[in-house]
Amino acid sequence: MRISVIGCGYLGAVHAACMAKLGHEVVGIDVDDRKIKDLSNATAPFYEPGLEALLKDVQETGRLSFTTDMSFAANSEVHFICVGTPQKKGENAADMTYVDAAVLGLLPYVTPGDIIVGKSTVPVGTAGRLAEQLATQEPAAHLVWNPEFLREGHAVSDTLSPDRLVYGVIDGSEEHPAVAILDEVYAGSLSAGTPRLVTDHPTAELVKAAANSFLATKISFINAMAEVCEATGADVTRLADAIGLDDRIGRKFLHAGIGFGGGCLPKDIRAFMARAGELGADQALTFLREVDAINMRRRTRVVELTRELCGGMLLGKRLTVLGAAFKPESDDVRDSPSLSIAAQLQLQGAVVTVTDPKALNNAARRFPELHYESNTEAAVHKADALLLLTEWQEYRDLDPYSLAASVNSPFILDGRNVLDAGKWRSAGWTYRGLGRP
Ligand code: UGA
Repeated sequence: MRISVIGCGYLGAVHAACMAKLGHEVVGIDVDDRKIKDLSNATAPFYEPGLEALLKDVQETGRLSFTTDMSFAANSEVHFICVGTPQKKGENAADMTYVDAAVLGLLPYVTPGDIIVGKSTVPVGTAGRLAEQLATQEPAAHLVWNPEFLREGHAVSDTLSPDRLVYGVIDGSEEHPAVAILDEVYAGSLSAGTPRLVTDHPTAELVKAAANSFLATKISFINAMAEVCEATGADVTRLADAIGLDDRIGRKFLHAGIGFGGGCLPKDIRAFMARAGELGADQALTFLREVDAINMRRRTRVVELTRELCGGMLLGKRLTVLGAAFKPESDDVRDSPSLSIAAQLQLQGAVVTVTDPKALNNAARRFPELHYESNTEAAVHKADALLLLTEWQEYRDLDPYSLAASVNSPFILDGRNVLDAGKWRSAGWTYRGLGRP
């Protein structure tokens, strides 16, 4: 099929490359000239494992191209909207400027029978509003809401082998003409047995908001348990192991630590609360305020614990933060809990060095006042305490014995509860986890 993908960020660039991999002819369109130049040269504009190899692979087939010129969408019959919906400045609600502009910019190039497929995470009611707008245009195009569930760091495999496909169409009917077209787009996944659900527009939009809210709630639940564990001397990691063995609960997303960040969970739960408020259903989601509060409290807690580790005073202490990205295998620092903690420590007088295998350039743009060092050995040299805040494999694998000789004081705060506390203690370290004795 001939496909256009509007928006080539974390979602769209991967989607475009994967659609080409599946055999479609794809044009990726974005207003950012630099991004388009990179992608046209088969260079990923951000770090995502496997993306660059995939870009090279598919560009050789001639099925994938990138442009800033929207008129190239005219050759396509399926148009994916993959632009961002960031949090509005000073408000909880999502900023819909980019989605609205993408749809408006696309309209002159849409021909009868085309489908426009929204993948961006949007407030419920957006598809209905856009569909009304489309209905007034000639020719009318069908609008499908097809939420994306990919995780950064696993984006390529999540797109090529999703765990489900949701198509939201205006009448919620399997017979809607857009369903057969999307089935053709996703024929590879469907033949591999991926479950596919057809719903109405609002249900499809809500599936995404509900899924991310559930994941955020799971993380904040275990972090709340970590607070109780800290008050009682219990160990939250063993607690999670034990409750996770109940398959109604499951162990995934029960990793207690410094909490969730990134460009999705934090802003999505806030946008969901804001939208529920507009709909008069705010009471239904007041628990998400608590989920958000528990999550933000983790950051303050780490600052307090670091102060304790440093003997009650942060002033002049040399601290090294291992990891700047909001999660490993990503260079994304949007709402990164690690950087927010690093900045708070620095504000309180500590001298903070941050290291990360991939995210230092992005981090330095957001927090220029912090000190960055790409070499781990140099970053930890003469540190008064280490804080492991993003669990990259190379930090999990650090050898506590050799590291002890390089730091000033062997103090480590394991913000992700991934280190073997016994091993670090035997190597002479004062080890602190979160929610662990
Ligand atoms: C999230 C969802 O997992 C995806 O399904 C969704 O498609 C995506 O948002 C989106 O809306 O686009 P992502 O933001 O890439 O994906 O990251 P997650 O893997 O969900 O992690 C989010 C944060 O939670 C990270 O900071 C991670 O460190 C933290 N986390 C995760 C925990 O603190 N504990 C856990 O047990 C799991």
